[in-house]
Amino acid sequence: MEVAIGSQPVLVLSGLDTLRQALVRQGEDFMGRPDLPSFRLIANGQSLAFSPEAGDAWKARRKLAQNALKTFSIAASPTSSSSCLLEEHVSKEAAYLVTKFLQVMEEEQSFDPCRYLVVSVANVICAMCFGKRYDHNDQELLSLVNDSNEFGDVAASGNPSDFIPLLRYLPSRSMDLFKDINRRFNMFIEKIVQEHYATFNKEHIRDITDSLIGHCQERKTAGEDTNLQPSNQSIIAIVNDLFGAGFDTVTTALSWCLMYAASYPDMQKRIQAELDQTIGQERRPRLSDRGTLPYTEAFILETFRHSSFLPFTIPHRTTKATALNGYYIPKDTCVFVNQWQVNHDEKLWQDPSAFKPERFLNAAGTEINRTESDKVLTFGLGRRRCIGESIGRWEVFLFLTTLLQQLEFSLAPGEAVDLTPQYGLTMKYKKCERFQIKRRLPSNGSL
Ligand code: HEM
Repeated sequence: MEVAIGSQPVLVLSGLDTLRQALVRQGEDFMGRPDLPSFRLIANGQSLAFSPEAGDAWKARRKLAQNALKTFSIAASPTSSSSCLLEEHVSKEAAYLVTKFLQVMEEEQSFDPCRYLVVSVANVICAMCFGKRYDHNDQELLSLVNDSNEFGDVAASGNPSDFIPLLRYLPSRSMDLFKDINRRFNMFIEKIVQEHYATFNKEHIRDITDSLIGHCQERKTAGEDTNLQPSNQSIIAIVNDLFGAGFDTVTTALSWCLMYAASYPDMQKRIQAELDQTIGQERRPRLSDRGTLPYTEAFILETFRHSSFLPFTIPHRTTKATALNGYYIPKDTCVFVNQWQVNHDEKLWQDPSAFKPERFLNAAGTEINRTESDKVLTFGLGRRRCIGESIGRWEVFLFLTTLLQQLEFSLAPGEAVDLTPQYGLTMKYKKCERFQIKRRLPSNGSL
C-alpha cells in the first residue's frame, strides 16, 4: 500500500511473496536507502547501513565488513580452544553473567536482567571489533549501551521529523538525544580506531579494526581505484555500524527470550530437560550443539516471530523506476518493509497471536520444519539482508542455553507484567525489575 507521511508518499510492503519478489527477485531495484535527515547524523553520514550510498564503493565496503566480521567470529580459529572466536567470547561472557545474576539476586531479591545482558553482549562485539572487554560498571560503555532506546526511537520507520520538514525546526527532546548519542558513539569509536592506528602491526592483526586498517593500507600501496578505497573515516563508520548493530539487536532478542521463558515456565522446563538430556551438566553448551536441540531452537524461532522485535527493516528506497505486482513505482520512492505483518499473517500462521514453539517442530518433535522456519522474517531479505545474521543467531543460542542450563528464571509474584512492545527500530517491553533466578545445579557442580 501507499501511505503519505506529511506530503511524502511511502510504499509499505507486506506479504511474504511480495517481499520476496521486491527484495530478492527485484533486489537491485529495491536495495537503496532513503536520504533521511536523521540518517545523515549516523556515523557522520557515512554509515554502511543507513547512508543513501548503494553503488560499487558501497558494495565493496559491505563485502569488506562481511569478511572482517567472519574472520573474527565464526571462522575456525587456530589460536582458540573453542570452535571459533565467537564461541570463546560468548562462553566467557555467559559464564560471567551467571555469576553476576546470582550475586544481584542475592543482594536485591529481584532485578532487571537487561541491564547486565547489554554489557555482556556489547563485550562480545567489542572483543571482535576492538579486542577489548569492559567492566560491567564502566561508565563510558554503560552510558552508550543504555541509550539504545533513544537511537531506535528516531531511526525507526516513520519517524515524523524525517518526513515533515516543519518538525525539524521545533524543539525535540528525542532528536536532541539522538544527536547526542551519535556524537558520543562516534567519539568512542574514533578514539579506539586511533589507538589501533598507533599500535598497528600488519604482521599481527588483532581484531576487526586492525583488519580494516590493514586492508585500507594494502589497497593504497597496490594503487587500486581510489574511489573504491575505504577512507579512514569510512573505516570508523564500518566499525561504528558493526558495534551499533551488534549489541542492541542481540540484547533485545535475548531479553525477549528470557521474558517468554519466565512467563511460560513449562516451556522453560522443556528446554532445560532437553539441555540436560543432550548436553548433561558436566559441560557447557557449544555452538555445535545447535542442531541437536530442536525444542530450544523452536523456542528461539517463536520468540523472533511472536515478538517481531524488529517490526520493520531499516527503510529502503527504489534505485530506479520499476513495477511491482503490476503497480508502477517511481525511482527514489521510500519503502517500508513490514516484517511484523509477515510474522503475524493469518494466511501463513495458525493462531498467530499465540506463543507456540511446537509450530516449528515436525510431528515427532524431533526436527525443525524448515518450511515453517523460513517464513519467519527477522533479518530482512536480499541485498540488504543483515550481515550479522549467523552471529546474531549463534549468540542468542549460546547465551540462552548457557543461562538456562544453570539458572531457572521466574517473575516475582504481583501484578501482571506488561509485554506490550514499545515501537522503535527494535521493540522492547517496558523495563521489568521483577525477574528472579534460582540456581539449577548444586553450587559445587562441575560447571
Ligand atoms: C538478532 C540479531 C540481529 C537482528 C534481528 C538483525 C536484523 C537486521 C535487520 C532487519 C537489518 C536490516 C535489513 C534491511 O534493511 O533490509 C539488519 C541490517 C544490518 N545488520 Fe543486523 N541484525 C542482528 C544482528 C546483527 C549483528 C550481530 C551485526 C554485526 C555484528 C549486524 C550488522 C548489520 C549491518 C551492518 C546491517 C546493515 C546491512 C545493510 O544495510 O546492507 N546485525 N540487521
